[in-house]
Amino acid sequence: MSEAERKKVIFSGIQPTGVFTLGNYVGAIRNWGPLQDEYDCIYSIVDEHAITVRRDPVKFRQQTVEGYALLLACGIDPKKSIAFIQSHNPNHAQLSWILGCVTQFGELSRMTQFKDKAAKHADDINAGLFTYPVLMAADILTYNADVVPIGDDQRQHLELARNIAVRFNQRYGETFTVPEAYIPKVGARIKSLQDPTKKMSKSDDNPNATIFILDDKDTIMRKFKRAVTDSETEIRYAEGKDGINNLLTIYSCATGKTVQDAEKEFSGFGYGDFKAAVGEAVADWLEPVRTEYARLMDDKAYLKQCWTDGAQRAFRLSNKIYAKACRKIGFVDYR
Ligand code: TYM
Repeated sequence: MSEAERKKVIFSGIQPTGVFTLGNYVGAIRNWGPLQDEYDCIYSIVDEHAITVRRDPVKFRQQTVEGYALLLACGIDPKKSIAFIQSHNPNHAQLSWILGCVTQFGELSRMTQFKDKAAKHADDINAGLFTYPVLMAADILTYNADVVPIGDDQRQHLELARNIAVRFNQRYGETFTVPEAYIPKVGARIKSLQDPTKKMSKSDDNPNATIFILDDKDTIMRKFKRAVTDSETEIRYAEGKDGINNLLTIYSCATGKTVQDAEKEFSGFGYGDFKAAVGEAVADWLEPVRTEYARLMDDKAYLKQCWTDGAQRAFRLSNKIYAKACRKIGFVDYR
C-alpha cells in the first residue's frame, strides 16, 4: 500500500481512575468516536499509567473494567477501532525502557504534571511518576501514530513524545512517525465549576466542582446551579469572566452551537436561568452514554471478549514497530 493510500493512525488513552469527567469527555473522548471512520484508531485504558499513584487493587481492577465499558459507551466501536487495556500489550512497557535511554533527566524534570503530582503526593514520589511521559511516548510511538487527540493538559507530554521520536530517528535512522497533537479549538481545558481558574479534575476534593459523565440529571442540574460565576450580570465570553466562559464553552460543546450564538441566545437572561439551561443541555447530551454504559456493564462476557480481541490486535500491530526499534539499537534478533 502506498503512503497516500494508508489511513492515518490515531492513538489516545485515558486513565481508569474513576468515572470520566465532563472535562475528559469534552477535551478528548467526544472526538474519538467521530474519528473512527477516517482513521485507523487505537484507544487504550492506560492502567499502567494509573499505578504511579498508590491504589487499592480490588477497586482498581473494578475501575479498569468500568473504564473500558465507559470507553465503548462513549461511542468507541471495538469492531472499527482497537480498544484495549494497556497492560495487556507488553510492548508499551518494553519500548518505554528503550525510549527512556534517549530521554534526559532534565526534560522529565521540567514536566509540569510531574511537578504538580509530586507536590500532591509528596510521600510517594516514585520513579514511575517521573518516567510517566516516557511510557506515554511509547504508547504512541509503538503504533507509529500520526495523530493524538488530547486535551490541553497533555500538550507538554506530546511535545516530549515528538522530541523523543525525532532524537531516536536522528540517532538510529528513520524508525518512528513524529506524532501531531489534535487539540480541540473549543473545550480543550474545561474548568472546575467551583474554581474556574483550575482544570476540572476527577480528584477534586469539592464534589460540586466536577461533573462525572454518569451523574444523573438531578445531580448535574444541582452542580450547575451552584457553579461559581462573577459579580456581573452579562452572559458574554470575556477576559476575567472565567466561570461564564467555562459555562459558555460547555454549552457550545453540548449543543453544537458556537459560543457567539450562545451569547446571543442568552442575551438578557439572568445567570440562574443560564446555568439551568447549561445543566439541561449537558444532561441531555450525556444521557445516551449512561444508558449504553448500564447495558454494557450487564454483559461482562462481551466486554471481556472485546478487550481480549483488542489486546491481540494491538500486540500484533505494535510488534513490528517494536522489533524495528530493537534492530536499530543493536539488540540481537531471535525471531
Ligand atoms: P487523563 O486520563 O488524565 O485524561 C484523558 C484525556 O482527557 C483530557 N482532559 C481534559 N480535557 C479538557 N478539560 C479537562 N478538564 C480535562 N481533563 C482531562 C486529557 O487531556 C486527556 O486527553 N497521560 C494521559 C493518558 C495517556 C495518553 C497516552 C493520552 C497515556 N498515554 C497516549 C494520549 C496518548 C492522561 O493521564 O490522561
